[in-house]
Amino acid sequence: MVQPSPATPRPRVVDLRAGRRRDGVRWVDGPAPVLSWRTADGPPGWVQSRAELRVTWLDDGGSTGTATASGPVSTGIAWPWRPLRSRERVRIEVVTAAVDGPASAGAAVEVEAPLLDAADWTASWIALPTGEDTPGQLRRCFTLPAAPVRARLHVTALGALEVELNGVRVGDEVLAPGWTAYHDRVLASTHDVTDLLRAGTNVVGAWLAGAWFTERYGFFGRARRAYDGPPALLAQLEVDLVDGTRVVVGTDGTWTGTTEGPLRASGIYAGEEFDATRHDPAWSRPGPAGDGWAPVRVLPAPSAVVLPATAEPVRRTQLVTPVALTTSPSGAQQVDFGQNLVGRVRIRVTGPAGHTVTLRHAEVLEDGELATRQLRHAYSVDRYTLAGTGVEEWEPRFTFHGFRYLQVDDWPGELTAADVTAVVCHSDMAPTASFSCSEPLLERLHENVAWSMRGNFLSIPTDCPQRDERLGWTGDLQVFAGAAATLHDCDAFLTSWLADLAAEQRRSGGVVPIIVPTAMPEDREGVVAAWGDAATVVPWTLHERFGDVDVLARQWASMQAWVEVELAQADEEGLWSRGYQLGDWLDPRAPAHSPREGRTHPSLVASAYLFRSLDVVARTARVLGQDADADRYAGLAERTRTAFLAAYVTPAGRMVSAGPTTYAMTLVFGIATDPLLRERLGRRLAEVVREDGYRIGTGFVGTPLVMDALCATGQLHTAGRLLLQTESPSWLYPVTVGATTVWERWDALLPDGTVNPHEMTSFNHYALGAVVDWLHRGLVGIAPAEPGYRRVRVAPVVLPGLTSATSDLVTPYGPVHAGWVLADGAVRVTAHIPTGAGADVLLPDGTTDQVGSGEHSWTVPWAPPVPTPQLAGLDTDLAELVDDPEALALVRSRVAAFDPGRARAFDGPLRYEAGSTLRTALMFADPAGLQQVDQALLDLAAHRTTPTEETP
Ligand code: BGC
Repeated sequence: MVQPSPATPRPRVVDLRAGRRRDGVRWVDGPAPVLSWRTADGPPGWVQSRAELRVTWLDDGGSTGTATASGPVSTGIAWPWRPLRSRERVRIEVVTAAVDGPASAGAAVEVEAPLLDAADWTASWIALPTGEDTPGQLRRCFTLPAAPVRARLHVTALGALEVELNGVRVGDEVLAPGWTAYHDRVLASTHDVTDLLRAGTNVVGAWLAGAWFTERYGFFGRARRAYDGPPALLAQLEVDLVDGTRVVVGTDGTWTGTTEGPLRASGIYAGEEFDATRHDPAWSRPGPAGDGWAPVRVLPAPSAVVLPATAEPVRRTQLVTPVALTTSPSGAQQVDFGQNLVGRVRIRVTGPAGHTVTLRHAEVLEDGELATRQLRHAYSVDRYTLAGTGVEEWEPRFTFHGFRYLQVDDWPGELTAADVTAVVCHSDMAPTASFSCSEPLLERLHENVAWSMRGNFLSIPTDCPQRDERLGWTGDLQVFAGAAATLHDCDAFLTSWLADLAAEQRRSGGVVPIIVPTAMPEDREGVVAAWGDAATVVPWTLHERFGDVDVLARQWASMQAWVEVELAQADEEGLWSRGYQLGDWLDPRAPAHSPREGRTHPSLVASAYLFRSLDVVARTARVLGQDADADRYAGLAERTRTAFLAAYVTPAGRMVSAGPTTYAMTLVFGIATDPLLRERLGRRLAEVVREDGYRIGTGFVGTPLVMDALCATGQLHTAGRLLLQTESPSWLYPVTVGATTVWERWDALLPDGTVNPHEMTSFNHYALGAVVDWLHRGLVGIAPAEPGYRRVRVAPVVLPGLTSATSDLVTPYGPVHAGWVLADGAVRVTAHIPTGAGADVLLPDGTTDQVGSGEHSWTVPWAPPVPTPQLAGLDTDLAELVDDPEALALVRSRVAAFDPGRARAFDGPLRYEAGSTLRTALMFADPAGLQQVDQALLDLAAHRTTPTEETP
């Protein structure tokens, strides 16, 4: 082994973790957490050949164990020792070595097991003295003979909780323990509370509300609860004393609860009401509880198994101050936070006791007033009644809203910007991506998608964060999974949600519900393609992006059960063309009131996804070493692929279903593999996109795929026009009109500034933002060539319309950077590959390279493939006009001058038949006007061919 010279920094092990969480807590997620680390600061080309692992069992007399991991992989390593026991503490050390590089300085981490078995829980589930969904407080006073040497609080709820010990808030989790498949599993968190306890009298108290557990779910006025029973608390405080004894204070019948507390009402949709005149700030400190407390109800244990939390909890992650305070036309006091966000508002207020302030939330304004119609039954109003004790600070505990605007009613005195702060809340995943390029609108799109992901990864992945849904729609996540895994390390978050998916699926005989956790009986009724396929696509994405093999093993039964359900829907040829489908949801050509009726026939979506899932399951079986399953599913995938081509694709590269989504699925899923057929499909797809006037023509299913499909078939010019389009419908149209998040509909805000009148109009829906994955993976071109980016593929796409693009990703092997910039007829590509990884490089001119870790750059000649439009006055071919935004705008303005009605034909996608000209499109128009159009185009053409002084 080569020894490092004094000048070279020594490689060192960093990010050593047990479990998937990235928020640095010491608690592991089970008896055998996966191990991950990476090596940083290695010399160029350093690759791990072996890692030496050592464990010290800290509660077992300091006994030790060792293990070796061979090869370059350092993510998701299976726990190599005996399983951990509940409460056990261990120290893990890792040192890595390379074949021909210096050994690393090792790293160590100390971790601790929470309660791992149901039998560890001696506490009982308790509820407030009365009520089925009333919130309140619970409390217990207890004595300790001595100060603790160690104290742990294990706590969970059916509902949401916040614990206080001796007047101090425990932890920083928001809406803990989050929403899971409550019939099956509920997650407990563990806190180190040693410093909060003392010898003598102590008080443990908990705020408790129903949150998701008591919420009413349903559409068309039929909302009802998904779970029975009152909000319930389970807490177990374990206090170790110096003499080796352990005092356990668990929830039981000795606790008391409020009957008339300050937390008057709380709901995820409704908002929260707090009456500070009823609040005793000392309620969780030693001393008498005062009036309004009664013995709690002890409940029978619920069906849910209590398990350790395995993902980062929801936390407050950012504070946003107002950008403007205004008065609405009706005289209401409004606050603009400048960003559509998810969380709640914290107020600082001074005023008389008993005075109530009301906070109303909305994402957009309409006619200057809060637009709340699209919130439907989500009232989204918080109310605070002042205690009158001076400066009072308040933020609701157990609700959240999606909003940019706040209306403040009945503020005592004058409202200032310092009085209101928006508190951003979401699951506290580590952000992993930044993007920049030569088009600021595209950078803002990226920013908007990142905001939408944050707002909608709040305990579970939701469709939207504001109206009376906020549900775990499986299809939304399925299409967004790649983007999610790019923007944040969501391995822990989604692995936890997949456990809920598997639990709900088991209750539905293998059918994956369209919403997880399920909230309504109807969620389980359909076998819905692209939604149910979350069961296969999401684990596979986590494997690809995070190198997570364990999630494939955990989800295998779920993945297999889902494809078997799909196969049962298929005919004898292997095509799936029956049952209710959501199709290419929200294709902009679908009728606004029926988003599933887009141009792509639902059976094409179903059969394409049948292939996709069979293919994924076959690959998964291969990874897991189950070759017989792998062969079987690969064979079934091939059957469906062949049948799909025979049924839906002509040899000339046309598809029976006309929209771009059919082409995109066929190309990107790998259904069409023959190079000639792929080229023909790509060419036809480009024609379809062009016929749509380079406006987006895809819904949930096609939108994440269409850029890949165009670029994979060399249709870069069309891809550039589609991506950079700013007219509706397009990715950038919302950005041009001030969107700060991704919208549910391409035209949630209509070009005339009014809100789309359809009731399903959210301004924070990540699904159509899935294209950001392509910005990193396709445009800049950083993709995992091996799971977890152990080997990176760097393959930039120089897109017409852009002159540069860069991406920085935090991968499991460390920070990866790539970028390209055009200058002087050449493209310069740069890349940083982290220690331990390597890269396969495909440059824009077709040359390839293979490199190890370190800094790299390449410069290759680049001549942009810009088609030269032919302008021939009125005889201009319409296809050429579509490709020439300047000429098209000129025609539109000239026609508008003499015939505004006909000018409107040039507003939307320009429909044309091959070979038709502007003359035929303007047939029977005023001859004088036509002549002006003719001349204007000829002048433009002449101007373009005349060299200007600046042009050499
Ligand atoms: C949700 C969608 C979801 C769809 C499916 C909508 O109400 O907001 O995002 O996937 O329903 O029906």
